Amino acid sequence: MVSPDVLARVTALRQELERHNHAYYVLDQPTLPDVEYDRLFHELQSLEAEHPELFTSDSPTQRVGGKSIDGFAPVRHAVPMLSIRTETDTEASGALAFDARVRRELGLDQSDPLIEYAAELKFDGLAINLRYEHGVLVQAATRGDGETGEDVTQNIRTVHVIPLRLKIPSPPAVLEVRGEVFMRRDAFERYNARQRESGKPTLVNPRNGAAGSIRQLDPVIAAQRPLTFFAYGLGAVQGWPQPDSHSAMLDALAAMGVPVCAERVTGLGAEALISFHDDIAARRDQLPFDIDGVVYKVNRYDLQRELGFLTREPRWAVAHKYPAQEQLTTLISIDIQVGRTGALTPVARLAPVFVGGVTVTNATLHNQDEIDRKDVRVGDTVIVRRAGDVIPEVVAVVAEKRPDPAPPRFNLLETYPTCPECGSHVVRLEGESAARCTGGLYCPAQRKQALLHFAGRRAMDIEGLGDKLIDQLVERGVVHTPADVYVLSLETLAGLERMAEKSATNLIAAIEASKTTTLARFVFSLGIRNVGETTAKDLSHHFGGLDKLIAATEAELLEVHDVGPIVAQSIIQFFSEPHNLDGVSKLRTAGVHWPETAGMQQSSGILAGKTLVLTGSLPTLTRDDAKAKIEAAGGKVTGSVSKKTDYVVAGVEAGSKLAKAQELGVTVLDEAGLLALLMAI
Ligand code: IVH
Repeated sequence: MVSPDVLARVTALRQELERHNHAYYVLDQPTLPDVEYDRLFHELQSLEAEHPELFTSDSPTQRVGGKSIDGFAPVRHAVPMLSIRTETDTEASGALAFDARVRRELGLDQSDPLIEYAAELKFDGLAINLRYEHGVLVQAATRGDGETGEDVTQNIRTVHVIPLRLKIPSPPAVLEVRGEVFMRRDAFERYNARQRESGKPTLVNPRNGAAGSIRQLDPVIAAQRPLTFFAYGLGAVQGWPQPDSHSAMLDALAAMGVPVCAERVTGLGAEALISFHDDIAARRDQLPFDIDGVVYKVNRYDLQRELGFLTREPRWAVAHKYPAQEQLTTLISIDIQVGRTGALTPVARLAPVFVGGVTVTNATLHNQDEIDRKDVRVGDTVIVRRAGDVIPEVVAVVAEKRPDPAPPRFNLLETYPTCPECGSHVVRLEGESAARCTGGLYCPAQRKQALLHFAGRRAMDIEGLGDKLIDQLVERGVVHTPADVYVLSLETLAGLERMAEKSATNLIAAIEASKTTTLARFVFSLGIRNVGETTAKDLSHHFGGLDKLIAATEAELLEVHDVGPIVAQSIIQFFSEPHNLDGVSKLRTAGVHWPETAGMQQSSGILAGKTLVLTGSLPTLTRDDAKAKIEAAGGKVTGSVSKKTDYVVAGVEAGSKLAKAQELGVTVLDEAGLLALLMAI
């Protein structure tokens, strides 16, 4: 029998974790530090492991993916999943034709009132039916052929925005929510960057990313690809007094915690649809995800019923597509761009093609491995993708269209043994995907990029210090390092091309203002390899001060959230270069400053500042449990015993670490000893 206390704790943990989950993934407003979330999560995991009878399918622990599955069972949809008529005319005026059609079908003439429409986005992912019974998610299925789909419940549970339980006091017996699972563009980019770095295959586009994850047989892999979801309709419903319109239905779903896109409107007549179409078309690139177009729906359910279906498509809805974000074109040549870290990026010069709303003539090919993997050759017909403000990319080659005889493969190192910008040698280090110019800051291309990064909006945010100015400053030899920016005079700036007195004054003010910054921005601005904005924030949060970061050992860096050996090594390497330390100190002398904090190392708790090592298996706690408990009490768990270790916690079959502890005279505890120590709080 489970004690009421345990039951209450498990329930409380599940509620709390789901609340944070919602705040983090849906509202994008984290309410808890990650360590604290992890602590609660581990507590719940271990309680569930100790009391398997408490298992429920809607526990937050079910979101991490479970065992591999053999295949997907077929699911017959209670209500078929239909599709909508899609019109590819990109004119906003397509709405007029739809409105005219609807009015004609309803037998309305000009004197009748305008029809109310709901307009929303056409998400570009995978259609999913979520079946909730009495408020609990019991099954998720793909659309399949519309009649029968596949059971993808386990993978869908890893999509954090999808509620495992509806937030409604008396949930309907059955409520099937239909919508689209998709990948945000930032998640797609991040995923691909990581894959590329480790030489693994990348996703062609977010759509394939979403479909591939959901149809992934290993739910753990599915869980690693961050997906999201928006509802746009209903399937079978029992025991729910349905609202009387589409928009009211979406509002009701939103109130139950189901994600519904905020980019939607209701309005009267074709005019409302046209203005939505134009508004979204203008902002399409700024949306955080790809869309196919917009969808117009007759809002009132009674009118929808009256209109009915034509073969397999509703007469009350239509999709209007925007220009495609992928197009075919020819690869004319492969050039090279030298980046901030000296990486030589192969760039495809393309026959001009209109894609994603602009004419594209260049696209990135990333690196040699990517060129090899996609087997891209000059003369090939390629698929170019441009979505959002992301740099256009060559995603694939159309093999059947390769010229005959086939053009030779492209080899970067053979074509560019030396840097096209500065003539220094080009090398490709083992384990790295990029070939690099060895010129360092001697290479003007690297210097310019480093400065551009330093001044960037997300770094020191020096407004007005853009690429044209940096080109001039570097070419004239005025600025060599970021610190030189802070000694620029009004006269020097005003003397540059395209600079008037006024803009020079503004720039001086912007440079001055940038001196007051944050540690995270400053760390990011240094352009340390593998340290992006998020890592810079994590480092700043963890260490609180720059000197602590500079002095950090690899082991200390590895304690930072999401910092692995590669990142740790890059940081150590950066701060071991005297010229980098010199650059940092010059920036501080120039007046660049930020508030510092104590960081996370001096956390409170009975084990604050203590280092523990776990070895052997403990009688009741798993290693993760023990670690979570120690960390919750402010302690650190490391992998090897040294003189700095405060305690070694040893279980059965403890080996060399125990011997080492005894040799060094480190206090050894068993599980009971550890628990006693923790209880002493
Ligand atoms: S409504 C009966 N609304 O586009 C009508 N569909 O053919 C049900 N889609 O497979 C569809 N965004 O996966 C609807 N806002 C939206 C949508 C949407 C994307 C997808 C859906 C469907 C296809 C329509």
